[in-house]
Amino acid sequence: MKRLAGMLLCAAVAFGSVAAPAKDAEMESKIDALLQKMTLDEKIGQLNQQTGTGYSDAMVNAVKGGAVGSILNEVDPEIVNKLQKEAVENSRLGIPLVFARDVIHGFKTIFPIPLGQAATWNPALVEQGARIAAEEASSVGIRWTFSPMVDVSRDARWGRIAESFGEDTYLSSVLGVAMIKGYQTDDLSQPGTMAACTKHFACYGAAEAGKDYNTTWIPEVLLREVYLPPFEAAVKAGSATFMCSFNDINGVPSSGNPYLNRTILRDEWGYDGMLVSDWGSIQQMIPHGFCTDLKDAALKGALAGVDMDMESYAYVNHLKELVEEGKVKESVIDEMVRNVLRLKFRLGLFENPYVDMATARNFYTGKALSAAVKTVEEGAVLLKNNGVLPFKQIKKIALVGPMADDKHNQAGTWCFDLEKEHCVTPLQALTEMYGKDAVVYAPGLEYSRDKNEQGIAEAVEAAKNADVVVMVAGEEAVLSGEAHSRADISLPGAQTKMIEELKATGKPLVLVIMTGRPMTIAYEANLADAALYTFHGGTMAGSAIANLLSGKSVPSGKLPVSLPKMVGQEPLYYNHKNTGRPASGMVLIDDIPLEASQTSTGCTSYYLDAGDGPAFPFGYGLSYTTFEYGDVRLSDDSMGKDGKIEAACTVKNTGSVAASETVQLYVRDLVGSLVRPVKELKGFEKIYLQPGESREVKFTLNASDLAFWTSAKEKIVEPGEFDLWISGDSASGTPVKFNVTE
Ligand code: GLC
Repeated sequence: MKRLAGMLLCAAVAFGSVAAPAKDAEMESKIDALLQKMTLDEKIGQLNQQTGTGYSDAMVNAVKGGAVGSILNEVDPEIVNKLQKEAVENSRLGIPLVFARDVIHGFKTIFPIPLGQAATWNPALVEQGARIAAEEASSVGIRWTFSPMVDVSRDARWGRIAESFGEDTYLSSVLGVAMIKGYQTDDLSQPGTMAACTKHFACYGAAEAGKDYNTTWIPEVLLREVYLPPFEAAVKAGSATFMCSFNDINGVPSSGNPYLNRTILRDEWGYDGMLVSDWGSIQQMIPHGFCTDLKDAALKGALAGVDMDMESYAYVNHLKELVEEGKVKESVIDEMVRNVLRLKFRLGLFENPYVDMATARNFYTGKALSAAVKTVEEGAVLLKNNGVLPFKQIKKIALVGPMADDKHNQAGTWCFDLEKEHCVTPLQALTEMYGKDAVVYAPGLEYSRDKNEQGIAEAVEAAKNADVVVMVAGEEAVLSGEAHSRADISLPGAQTKMIEELKATGKPLVLVIMTGRPMTIAYEANLADAALYTFHGGTMAGSAIANLLSGKSVPSGKLPVSLPKMVGQEPLYYNHKNTGRPASGMVLIDDIPLEASQTSTGCTSYYLDAGDGPAFPFGYGLSYTTFEYGDVRLSDDSMGKDGKIEAACTVKNTGSVAASETVQLYVRDLVGSLVRPVKELKGFEKIYLQPGESREVKFTLNASDLAFWTSAKEKIVEPGEFDLWISGDSASGTPVKFNVTE
């Protein structure tokens, strides 16, 4: 029940019934009192965040002089304390520094990348991972992380999809809230916490053509319907900070966008946290062609409500001048400084500025490592299994592939503090589990991009002498993440060729994919007898994979992204519009007769070479058992615009092993004043059933959950007919109908 309660609370926060922390009157008076004492230089100093350079003279002088408010990427607790001492005891006003780091999916104990955590559909597990990350990172003085990233990501080419929770707005909202709760708990002033930083505000995931940093064109309704809700949920969850995005939205870079950062974030949502730029994003408004020079960038950043300048040095170099010229009122600076000071007060830094060296470097606890294993296990998606899994009476395993023993790359992107010697690979875990003699290791390729096929023969030979072949394929960590978009999202190097040659041995072939993104792997999965899709899993990836292959644990992951047949389908997402000619009667490219007439292939919306739809749909994932979904039952077949109905379905474990299943609730508004998506996720619940056990899963659907934006100012519930599904993925189930009445 705890897990369910956790999920319901997250969902509640995601949609508004849990309020963000109220302003604390006593804290505000302390802030005002401090502000009164500050010189303009000291105020501007608080707005400056720069990279740590150890206990250097330059850094010490900047800190003592009050010229820096936050330091990022300093993770030596001794240095943190020494610099903090300079700030607290040797600067004029003793304002503490806040130390920040990208703790994106773990600090030392690395968890799956956020896309892999999304595949667990388990907010409580995501919250736990964030909690552990905060305990580890804060033990060296990091009290602010640049996470969660809640950019809805519909394009697999975009390298940063790895850091997201995938293509769905609702799932991103719930899991973003879970991460915030994990980092911050209910009392951010406690030493073991970290301020969250919800990013990148906003629409970064809509970068055109999936090319990182690219422009976005976002109509207001799309902004409101798809990209903003996870950020609004984060405000309600009390995210202490936000971060700008690099991209422009309709020609206005986020770092200079008052509509985004003031009208929406502050005025509409009432946000009182702190907004930090992205790395150099204020300066980057110059190459954007939005600012003439750094002074202009400082002006536009400040007027747009960006409180802290990360690494542009625009504020420290130009804000004073701008104030003196009357172009920026000092009252604007004061508001920015208030937001920074409020963060530091909320973190308790004035009372507890130092790292407790007695508990410093609290890493790799048993709790952390077992939580990491569990998160990988629950985020692994079983795409196919003809019965070869879990292993039965296996005496010899041929373990092959470039990712089978790669400590560095299994961790994925954004692992600044990875200590790869702590990583457990599939080779180590399977050898430990089955014994050295039972596992024959032949990578075949040295790394994922390796085109040298010479090693494949040895892998094929190992396969011929084994009972089962496990090919661990995928992407090196560097092939996803920031600035790492790919126009071809197939398996790099000679991996496909290797899989074909392994297939030719006729031995049972298990394909394990370790990747940072959705990939076009349908062909390879089709060659295999089983396919397990894991997103880079971090420190304990190998242990989890061995547990899954052996049946010690049972796969329960569900795709948080659609896996495409071809990259040309991107952007690809389940909650698309129907169009006036939805795909039907498709004649595919190899079936078109010669000199076929123009209209002979049917005039509907599909690709001649890829047909329509994904290779594997959003929400999809198999188990070692099977689940049967009964008919959906509704408490009523209609509700008013302020009403609600209950939808229930009995789910039965019809197989032979106990397992988890994520039961998903989807709706479709069949007719709207704006066309509506063919499906929308509105709820989910992960349940655990013994063999033969049945459970009634019930969802409450409020009419308000069906509201949609028709403009910047209007969000409405329209009467009409709806379809509703309760199923195990976005592509299955039989809908029932209900109506919303006036
Ligand atoms: C990077 C990323 C951002 C990160 C920041 C600090 O460029 O865009 O996500 O938090 O800089 O490293």
